[in-house]
Amino acid sequence: MKKEISIKELKGNFIKMISDDWALLTAGSEDSYNMMTVSWGGIGELWGKDVCFVFVRPQRYTYNFMEKNSRFSLSFFDGGYKKELAVCGSQSGRDVDKAALTGLEAQPMGGALGYNQAKTVLVLKKLAYQDIDPKGFVDDSVMENYKAADFHRVYIGEIEKVLVEE
Ligand SMILES: Cc1cc2nc3c(=O)[nH]c(=O)nc-3n(C[C@H](O)[C@H](O)[C@H](O)COP(=O)(O)O)c2cc1C
Repeated sequence: MKKEISIKELKGNFIKMISDDWALLTAGSEDSYNMMTVSWGGIGELWGKDVCFVFVRPQRYTYNFMEKNSRFSLSFFDGGYKKELAVCGSQSGRDVDKAALTGLEAQPMGGALGYNQAKTVLVLKKLAYQDIDPKGFVDDSVMENYKAADFHRVYIGEIEKVLVEE
């Protein structure tokens, strides 16, 4: 069972949580959703709101679900489920049923979809998106991330709910 806490009560180092432990980005409805592993993103303050932002390349199947839905979620597993997250980060929902492959089946939670196995689920309301524009790259090394010119779309979501496993 998960309980709701305020974002200011969230324990742990967010950079470790996303960069080392990875997260599952999920968008859609119970009938039609997709998830993918992410290790880039952030939590912060913007426009007077608590926000979380993620970066999605346009070729991801998840991109379509991010576009069509007003909410999305980010689920954290605190270092567990790495094998499952590797599957969700290397296979596409266009080709395989990731829930069936991994046992990570999304459930409605706080207005979005999360996972019973997750330690923390952030429920996010889409506030804005912006495509990364290489014209703004100041350090040339950034371009190395875009050999295919597949510039990320940044989604900024307002943190509506923080659900943690009790
Ligand atoms: C550790 C890890 C982190 C990743 N982070 C991102 C990310 O932040 N943004 C992104 O667009 N793709 C990222 N990916 C790649 C997607 O998860 C991967 O392409 C996935 O298969 C897309 O699935 P989909 O086509 O079902 O959306 C990451 C993959 C891994 C393994």
